Amino acid sequence: MPQFEEGTTLDRFIFETTKAHSHAQGQFATLLQQLALAARLVSARVNRAGLAGILGATGEVNVQGEFVQKLDIYANEAFKRALEHPGVCCAIVSEEDEEPFFVPERFRSGRYVVCIDPLDGSSNIDVNATIGTIFGVFRRKSPEETPATQDDILQQGKEMVAAGYIIYGSGTVFVISTGDGVHAFTLDPSVGEFFLSHPNIVLEDFKRVYSVNEGYAAQWDPKLRTYIESLKDGQQSWRARYIGSLVADFHRNLLKGGVFMYPGTQKTPQGKLRLLYEGFPIAFLAEAAGGKASDGTMDILDKTPTSFHERTPLFVGNSTNVDEILSALHNES
Ligand code: AHG
Ligand code: MN
Ligand code: MN
Repeated sequence: MPQFEEGTTLDRFIFETTKAHSHAQGQFATLLQQLALAARLVSARVNRAGLAGILGATGEVNVQGEFVQKLDIYANEAFKRALEHPGVCCAIVSEEDEEPFFVPERFRSGRYVVCIDPLDGSSNIDVNATIGTIFGVFRRKSPEETPATQDDILQQGKEMVAAGYIIYGSGTVFVISTGDGVHAFTLDPSVGEFFLSHPNIVLEDFKRVYSVNEGYAAQWDPKLRTYIESLKDGQQSWRARYIGSLVADFHRNLLKGGVFMYPGTQKTPQGKLRLLYEGFPIAFLAEAAGGKASDGTMDILDKTPTSFHERTPLFVGNSTNVDEILSALHNES
């Protein structure tokens, strides 16, 4: 794995890391570049989001003659258009589409499957809070230039070859792992380039920060409730942080430490988050940074989905934090 200094461009990182993998060749590099292109488009649109209502009220029509779209639809289209670049992807699973998008034959079906949440935390758009795009990448099982199948998509989490997210906050940051460490690149909007700002992000073992929506506590497994209550004894200086946008909550915990939880409840035993494009990529990044991710029973990356939009409970962050939660959940007393 080449070492990278702060300030390295995302393009150079892509060039250097993909040349080290003989399987990657040009397709993988192009895939990452296309993700970065869509990220820049969405970032620019997010920065204008406050004006969307005002412009929308005038019935604004864009150059294609289409009405201005909601941001999550815009993001979905931007990533799909970027990823149907010839000979790169064969299928795209998006939170916004019930069925996978199979790359049309005229664009040549490539080697990779991308699972994507085009805009995570979209309920936060109206209040200018941080949102993001989450993605995970699998290599297909079936031969290239043939139609992709369901088995190319429904793979075990461990099979992922890359995962990341783009966070649109006070700055736009592209966080990526191809398995060798986790690296964050910050967009300089004046030149449209991402520069390495956080090389080799590592999660320490333990941090007294937790992120969970306690509004649902009455619906949790009582063992989890007891554990969370035990953190509030005033002696251990635990801090609670919850934005309500997975990408923003996880990003803060990745940089500063902490554990994120979205447990199942009595009403929704599998919780809310989706395995393919929320749980898997976030778990891949956490593990690549030395952390852990579990659904309460097994490692997230050991799971194999049986449907595209399957949900999963999620406990992710510093490894000792996750272990503490697992012992609390499995405590027999
Ligand atoms: P999305 O906007 O893609 O539907 O995801 C929202 C998710 C996730 O970002 C966040 O962690 C969770 O919803 C928050 O849910 P609660 O409001 O139930 O806490
Ligand atoms: Mn989401
Ligand atoms: Mn979403």
